[in-house]
Amino acid sequence: MEKSEKIANDIISRRGIYYQAFGIYKEISGFYDYGPIGLRIRRNIENTWRRFFLGELNALEVETTLILPEIVLKASGHLATFTDPIIDCTVCKASHRADKLLEEFYEKKGDTKAFSAVKRMKIPELEKEISSSGVKCPKCGSKLSKIESFNLMFKTQIGPGSSENGYLRPETAQGIFVDFKNLFRVYGLRLPVCISQAGKVFRNEISPRQQLSRMREFGQMETELFFDPGAELEEFNGIWFDTFAKAEITFMESNSDEARERRIGELLDLGIIPNRHLALLIYLEDKLMAKMGLSKETYRFRQVEKEELPHYSQGNIDLEAKTEYGWMEVAGNASRSDFDLSQHAKLSGEELGVVLDGKRILPHVAEASIGIDRLLLAILHNSAVDGSERGWSYLKLNENISPYHFAIFPLQKDEKLMDKAREVYSLLNERNLSSYYSETGGIGKRYARADEIGVLSCITIDYQTLEDDTVTIRDRDTTKQIRKKIGEIF
Ligand code: GLY
Repeated sequence: MEKSEKIANDIISRRGIYYQAFGIYKEISGFYDYGPIGLRIRRNIENTWRRFFLGELNALEVETTLILPEIVLKASGHLATFTDPIIDCTVCKASHRADKLLEEFYEKKGDTKAFSAVKRMKIPELEKEISSSGVKCPKCGSKLSKIESFNLMFKTQIGPGSSENGYLRPETAQGIFVDFKNLFRVYGLRLPVCISQAGKVFRNEISPRQQLSRMREFGQMETELFFDPGAELEEFNGIWFDTFAKAEITFMESNSDEARERRIGELLDLGIIPNRHLALLIYLEDKLMAKMGLSKETYRFRQVEKEELPHYSQGNIDLEAKTEYGWMEVAGNASRSDFDLSQHAKLSGEELGVVLDGKRILPHVAEASIGIDRLLLAILHNSAVDGSERGWSYLKLNENISPYHFAIFPLQKDEKLMDKAREVYSLLNERNLSSYYSETGGIGKRYARADEIGVLSCITIDYQTLEDDTVTIRDRDTTKQIRKKIGEIF
């Protein structure tokens, strides 16, 4: 049997779910475009997050600018610290990410201990390790240069002839922090409160690779939970601490290479999850993965090592999913404390604290940051089925994620059948049930094409339909067909 990832990759490329951008020109890695089917799946992922994550949190969603002035990123620390170690080939001049080169070197050797150690290394240790292990340029085999720090942000100028530097945002979160004061006042907010944003972010990756997993332009769905650090969380929007403390998640501690079921309350007691607010986000993220169609064994939470933490974080719990490329970070859950608000207060000169019981406090933040494209890759890689018994492979996407609920087919190219099929198609559209219409090719071929992209059911209009208004509905997973009155479909 073919592996799910391979089947998924084949469907992705044959059906143009996504593909490398600028295809007619010279290939520039790290940029992908979505075709019509991929875009529907991507939007469904975003809407599932909106319904089940933001909905549970009663979060406010905003849309802030893609370009940020330099001062914002100076305050956030991205200007000084949002860097990766870069190393160049002394002969062919190709640039590489030094830590990834070493990781690949140890992965090939099967040395898992050395592989994990790389994550903890700063530039001097990386340099020593590269020279002692004899790693060479993977393109031409020549000697490598010294390692430098490379800032990952795309820089631009705001306004013609202007000296005002701007940057494409590296995370959606900063727009939320900058707007916090205004939102709090205008909307009369109270702590704790969640503010969310989904949108594109930009990182000038040194060596993008592995399809959607490391891109230069990608999507994030971020939620910032602002809270009073002096108030213990007992209940949030009807979700009680006792409920989520009892819940179990698949979890891997930083000093372990084995994931097992752990109670969230136990991880809080041990200080592994830094606070209850972050625990709440992790609890809901775990539930969200089921809504996205990921089964328990395909993802896990991982405690991030201290040395790997982003500059703003006091503790991170990543969510990783299984893909062709191994376990891949799909979400980062960070305890950001008051780092961002205090930095923005300092550089803007604005008071960003809020008054609680006559006292001014600076809220702390727990963040759940989910990568849309990586999640899409994980969903596709874990949903492909080798349907040899039916003669074709297909994506077993759930009803939240599937690009269409129904495919509508007239049995043959007969005007009467085609008119009736279009009528059914319009009825479904009116009821907000996503569907597409197709009359080309044999019926078996049309079933195959619908299954392949994960359509839940196919509706066929035949001559009996013209007599009694019934249609056949074929289920993607069982391939069983039942006959129903048109009015009973919805
Ligand atoms: N906001 C978290 C991140 O961009 O990684």
